Amino acid sequence: MFTGFAGPVARADINPALLNDKPAFIADVMRQMTLEEKIGQLRLISIGADMPQPKLLKEIAEGRIGGMFNTVTRADNRPLQDAAVRNSRMKIPLFFAYDVVHGLRTIFPISLAQASSWDLDAIALSARTSAMEASSDGIDMTFAPMVDITHDPRWGRTSEGFGEDPYLVSQIAKASVRAFQGPTLPIAADRVMASVKHFALYGAVEGGRDYNVVNMSPMRMYDDYLPPYRAAVDAGTGAVMVALNSINGVPATSNVWLMQDLLRKDWGFKGVTVSDHGAITELLKHGVAKDEREAARLAIKAGIDMSMADQVYDRELPDLVKSGEVSIQEIDNAVREILGAKYDMGLFHNPYLRIGNAVDDPVEVNADSRLHRDAARDVARKSIVLLENRKQTLPLKKAGTIALIGPLSDAPIDMMGSWSAGGVAKQSVTLYQGLRNALGNKARLIHARGANITEDRHIVEYLNFLNWDTPEVTQDKRSPAAMIAEAVKAAKQSDVVIAAVGEARGMSHESSSRTSLDLPANQLALLKALKATGKPLVLVLMNGRPLALNWERDNADAILETWYTGTEGGNAISDVLFGDYNPSGKLPISFPRSVGQIPVYYNHLRIGRPYTEGKPGNYTSQYFEEPNGPLYPFGYGLSYTDFSLSNVSLSSPTMARGGKIEASVTVKNTGARDGATVVQLYIQDVAASVVRPVKELKDFRKIMLKAGEEQVVRFAIDEDKLKFFNAQLQHVAEAGEFNIQIGLDSQKVMQQSFTLQ
Ligand code: NOJ
Repeated sequence: MFTGFAGPVARADINPALLNDKPAFIADVMRQMTLEEKIGQLRLISIGADMPQPKLLKEIAEGRIGGMFNTVTRADNRPLQDAAVRNSRMKIPLFFAYDVVHGLRTIFPISLAQASSWDLDAIALSARTSAMEASSDGIDMTFAPMVDITHDPRWGRTSEGFGEDPYLVSQIAKASVRAFQGPTLPIAADRVMASVKHFALYGAVEGGRDYNVVNMSPMRMYDDYLPPYRAAVDAGTGAVMVALNSINGVPATSNVWLMQDLLRKDWGFKGVTVSDHGAITELLKHGVAKDEREAARLAIKAGIDMSMADQVYDRELPDLVKSGEVSIQEIDNAVREILGAKYDMGLFHNPYLRIGNAVDDPVEVNADSRLHRDAARDVARKSIVLLENRKQTLPLKKAGTIALIGPLSDAPIDMMGSWSAGGVAKQSVTLYQGLRNALGNKARLIHARGANITEDRHIVEYLNFLNWDTPEVTQDKRSPAAMIAEAVKAAKQSDVVIAAVGEARGMSHESSSRTSLDLPANQLALLKALKATGKPLVLVLMNGRPLALNWERDNADAILETWYTGTEGGNAISDVLFGDYNPSGKLPISFPRSVGQIPVYYNHLRIGRPYTEGKPGNYTSQYFEEPNGPLYPFGYGLSYTDFSLSNVSLSSPTMARGGKIEASVTVKNTGARDGATVVQLYIQDVAASVVRPVKELKDFRKIMLKAGEEQVVRFAIDEDKLKFFNAQLQHVAEAGEFNIQIGLDSQKVMQQSFTLQ
């Protein structure tokens, strides 16, 4: 290894006198570091077969590793930290990161489900609890929130994000970052640093195929896809994880415009940037680097501070510095951010801040007593969306005989959804267990599997290949007909049938892109057989993306979209099924009728020949074989009560520059039950210098109303809410008319207009 720039070799000490002056402290540490030690800080390493513990300990002691991920207990992390602060020359602590996306030990609903709550406090509770659990297991940083907007439900990672809307996802991004990190710097011992991901535009991969290219106009980028990352940066995220995809021909990992002009200069990001897994090496595959040396050079020059799980910085940077192709300032810039992040995590003050002393280690990390079940149940029931409820099929009575059928009715692994971190499947409350808990001996529960997730052998192989520890999907060896026969028999003996159908969690996962949004054929066959019994049919869907639910919508008596509800899922779903909780979720993403319609998203741009509902005809923008528009629109979701909107009004028909007006609406609970709903404010720019969306969400309020109660909801509208990026990418509000639309979903709205002067 090149040693030409080697600095002092004597054992260095962290100078405690400087500890309260971050820049001076970091400058003092850096002054003492050798080039090798600096490059070592740029490496983020995962423990694994290629990095067994003895090798790790050695490299840490040599000062060649800056951070670790995928090691998730205090007992595992302590010897690694010991190696860094006791055995390395510079004694620089490691940090420990992990994908704590929707919980560590207690698994909360997946992100898409959480977004369906439209409840920022609930989402913050998930992040706050995740931070508590992660920090108490020795973790300093989470690779979350994942705020990639997507318009393409074929993309498996749709489940990991918060949906299609830039405003909603931005609000969630802010709430999550604050909840993970807390209000203080250095970050408190019971919080963790956030690493917002994946910067940028990862959700727009072409065709919804994971890791594919992204090509996008600048206006769409700035208006629709970038705002959530920006919101996370404004909320103070300590880290940014860089996306695997290319953007208009340049991989994010080597993208100088993205990493420097936009992130650092325009947005003023001060923190550490981390590549995604192996992404620097993948620059060769993208075809922008001819070898690893060039890949390392491109990445460091673009501003990728830390390289996750590849060795190219370690191997190539020393010589690149020696040859002058990479300057020591470029290395220093990255090191400064990494040390700055460690400082902000509180690790220089106390490297064992989240690792603690061995005497305090939990005896059993997965002990049930360590779980936050109440919080998980609370968030889970708020995340469930009622899509259909004919003849008030729901809520069900806790009486009579209930048949529970379906491959997801007792599926502990699937309850957790993808990226379930340290979650333990057997701690999940399945729907079967949840119903048992709710019913006690008040009603008879008959259970039959009814179908496998799929009978497609290739898909089963794929799903089991995703997880090498335990089989994700276990096949019932009986024939589909035999399983259906058993289910039909159970249904016939019952007063109502609950069918838990959908996707195995691996179907909505990283790399799990689909070409179909239908339920697997064998599950649909099961539903058809159940329907034929004539018993009321309640679908409980578990899935990580919008599905094309045409038959289901027309034939089920009730449909609950539960996504993947997490550790307490079965209890939460039962709460909703029996009316102990009145559903209040709203879709954060449009549901298409078919794959052929994709992309379907509510805030699409206006066009010259729009299709008008109820006015079919040629030469308008439509698909002629099926109805147009989504099956279920963005913002949609029913309740066991009804709400009415009236008196949409504006405080003034004009808004002065720099001024404000107020929109108000009266919301009444006209039904017989207490319930919550989400009042949504959309704005449409009537005529602008560029083509603008048909409407855009600009505010929302989740309110709880008692039966018969009414409330006036007020929204402040200022110029900021009218702004967009024009053709010159200036963020402007243009004078003229605006329509204000208020509704309980994005389609059924009441409108008023005003003029910006
Ligand atoms: C790859 C994924 O894209 C990213 O989201 C995750 O944080 C890293 N692997 C680390 O597990």
